[in-house]
Amino acid sequence: MRRASQTTEAKFLFDPYLDWTEREGIPVVEDFGVDLNKVETKPWARMGTDGAFVHLKGRGDFLGIFLIDLPPGGKSKPQRHLVEEVVYVLEGHGSTTIKTRDGQDVKTHSFEWGKGSLFALPLNAEYQHFNGSGQERARLSSTNNLPMVLNLFHNEEFVFQNPFSFPEREGRETFFSGEGEFIPKTPGRHMWETNFVPDLTKFELVKWEKRGAGGSNIMFVLADGTMHAHCSEMPVGTYKKAHRHGADFHVSCITGTGYSLFWYEGDKDFARVDWNHGVVFAPPDGMYHQHFNTSSEPARYLAIALGGLRYPMLAEKRAVFSGMDVNVRDGGAQIEYEDQDPRIHRIYLEELKKNGVQSGMGGFIDEK
Ligand SMILES: [Fe+2]
Repeated sequence: MRRASQTTEAKFLFDPYLDWTEREGIPVVEDFGVDLNKVETKPWARMGTDGAFVHLKGRGDFLGIFLIDLPPGGKSKPQRHLVEEVVYVLEGHGSTTIKTRDGQDVKTHSFEWGKGSLFALPLNAEYQHFNGSGQERARLSSTNNLPMVLNLFHNEEFVFQNPFSFPEREGRETFFSGEGEFIPKTPGRHMWETNFVPDLTKFELVKWEKRGAGGSNIMFVLADGTMHAHCSEMPVGTYKKAHRHGADFHVSCITGTGYSLFWYEGDKDFARVDWNHGVVFAPPDGMYHQHFNTSSEPARYLAIALGGLRYPMLAEKRAVFSGMDVNVRDGGAQIEYEDQDPRIHRIYLEELKKNGVQSGMGGFIDEK
């Protein structure tokens, strides 16, 4: 029989997840926004390759990031855990093998990824990553709910050595080869169910006029999990409307360059994060934020959170998914262009001028 620890140290305000990250012995980076291209990784015994943890200020209580480097020709050690992961490929190309189990029946799935791929690791399925290049590094960013799971069970054996299988999370075989199912709903709520998106930069998005200026998006349902992901695009010369919601949306730039502004209601000034491919930030709880494309190409971003359209998990997420494009004047969370602080548009026009890009906002806001 296993017993409670005999330690004499008083247990008070413990965070089993943070304690675990410290014991893993790899870098832990914490900031408001982080350029994942620049984070230093160190050998990570558990993963059998190099890694780092990235904790964003607005990450909330549930999610964190593993940054995983696979050296040329390298591979990770097989992993299995009661943790959901959504993986984005920052650089390089390679493959991942996933084993799913249904009783005695074991199936092996394998798919090849490259820069811009997105995939989910089904709950507690064994997986292994391989770098397909003998010359170049591959860098993966895994956004996962280990903080929630480890703080809930605070038992590593249960989380990392658990034999239970979830065959219902596997989905169709074609979900591992880049196919999926479009599940139409309403603009901003259209879903694509899959386990693997080969190239987010080319994935066809659907118009979502109410979030602003010709934008488009798709909501993902990945490995029948509780982790949410969506991809949005802003055309050249445009920006989205400001809105606010709870913490934990991890937003990463996929294409283009630009910046985001952040402020709490009543603030005099804006906080700002400039982004390019690989920069990730998480708008903190209740903080207004607005994304601006300043590049000469469409700007895409990926957002990952706990609680998706299929399984919102939290009352707050249910409210976000129904009210994220509703005017604050009507009880929603979005500031319409005509109600925004006039400085916002002036800053944008100055930024466009620096980059030699024409504004595409004329049809959406009075530019005089
Ligand atoms: Fe947002």
